[in-house]
Amino acid sequence: MNIQIINGPNLNLLGVREKSIYGDTSFEAYLEQLRTRFANITINYYQSNVEGEIINKLHEVGFSADGIVINAGAYTHTSVAIGDAIAGINTPVIEVHISNVYKREEFRHSSLLARNCKGVIAGFGMDSYRLAIENLING
Ligand code: DQA
Repeated sequence: MNIQIINGPNLNLLGVREKSIYGDTSFEAYLEQLRTRFANITINYYQSNVEGEIINKLHEVGFSADGIVINAGAYTHTSVAIGDAIAGINTPVIEVHISNVYKREEFRHSSLLARNCKGVIAGFGMDSYRLAIENLING
């Protein structure tokens, strides 16, 4: 089984950025834990701060990967184009957020991606990614 994680803008700063919201673990360190935990599957990781690059990655893996876990960061709330890319591919996509976006500013309460996703997981810290992977593995 082959799962692609895609992180969007500013998520390269996890562990450094707004630690009270996003915690003090870098994504690379967390990814090591995920790969150890799910040793029998392949977890590929991609991060970009650029909207079009995220779309290109969705197109690249969206007909071959078994599942995609996407945290599109702020593009979640603004990007019709990423929403359309998710609608256009075959692989099931789960939207994740580290923070509980519903407890935060109102502009974070809406997602332009969610209607095209299998589901949304938000508010469990980095564990949101694990929960998404568990779901993709268990169908
Ligand atoms: C986020 C929530 C977004 O609103 C924000 O822009 C992010 C991170 C999260 O994981 O909680 O960059 O997607």
